[in-house]
Amino acid sequence: MPPTYGPFSRSPAMIKTMQIAHYLCVRFARGIGNSTQVDSDDWTLTETQEFNQLADVLARAFKNKKMLSWKADDYKDWLEVNGKGARGTNAEFERRVAEEFPPLVPGVIVFETEPFILCDIKGNILMWYLPGALKNRRQLKMWKELKILQGSFSIDEYSSSWRKNTSNYMKREDCKTLAPGTVSMAPAWFQQGHAKSNPLEVSAELRKARGLRWIENFSDSAALIGAALSIMHTWQWQLAIQAMDNLYRDPDLVAKNETLPRVLNAWTSPLTGISVINNRLETPTHRDRGSAYEWFDILSSIGKYQNGYMRLPGAGVEVAYGPGTLVGIAGKILTHNASSVGERACIAQYMKDNVVTALVTSNHRRWANASYIGRMEM
Ligand SMILES: [Fe+2]
Repeated sequence: MPPTYGPFSRSPAMIKTMQIAHYLCVRFARGIGNSTQVDSDDWTLTETQEFNQLADVLARAFKNKKMLSWKADDYKDWLEVNGKGARGTNAEFERRVAEEFPPLVPGVIVFETEPFILCDIKGNILMWYLPGALKNRRQLKMWKELKILQGSFSIDEYSSSWRKNTSNYMKREDCKTLAPGTVSMAPAWFQQGHAKSNPLEVSAELRKARGLRWIENFSDSAALIGAALSIMHTWQWQLAIQAMDNLYRDPDLVAKNETLPRVLNAWTSPLTGISVINNRLETPTHRDRGSAYEWFDILSSIGKYQNGYMRLPGAGVEVAYGPGTLVGIAGKILTHNASSVGERACIAQYMKDNVVTALVTSNHRRWANASYIGRMEM
């Protein structure tokens, strides 16, 4: 049966996310002193409490700026010339990077537990740190739902990639709730290594019953977390919405699209990819090369764990990474790693540069900028 989309050019799922985004923007603008508009009363008490908590943490982060001494554009250009595709795993290369682009406080690792944004010298934002952004009941819901994906989490003791290698994960017998491993899904992506030869396709997990079931359950959480991107990175948000709209209007852009209508009916994230990384004890220092330098990955950390830490060795920053923390990070620029003790899931939402380029004719890449956000009025 051909997919049916009705007369609209935007999916109802994305409209829902945009409605939440509007609420968050009003509350955020008030939080940073740019609005006196009262909160909308279109939502339930539970929803407004949850939105308020997220918007208030975003506003607190925005008012706590940490500024690096260099320009992100210079860093990007330097990486393009000297280490295109730098993975962040070569210590000697990273020592050279640090000479050119020093950390926040040279010779010191700054430890933080309070929300902040990390900016370059021009106010371009490279990270939002949002501890306590997700309420407990939201975390619990997200955690329970991951059981649906049990059986899809994969690890491999022979994998040459740290992302999949068994050695970085908890032992299976120590995992009481969820199996260790990762699973990734996207309504449109290129199979790894085949971006030039193969068309976009719906990822394998979203062609299976359990992937579809999970994305439908996760829909309200993805809407909440995705809506935060409208504040964190206005340009990426607009581009992401455009990519999702184009996909919704023209499903034939994507191969193997039999389940695409059902996927897009539930896909509230403006970002085109979601990975669940489950019970990985150690995430080694790395950059995420599939993104654009200017864009954020949004990471949500949940579970039953202690001593969660994220470190940005290049920026000289370490943060407490407890359950309920959201992080927006320019992961292609900033080297980062993470560790924890106990059962933890990281749900990463991101967009791949090659996918957006295939979906949007003018794929303009711009940095999130603090002075632009500071002028946000509602
Ligand atoms: Fe990463």
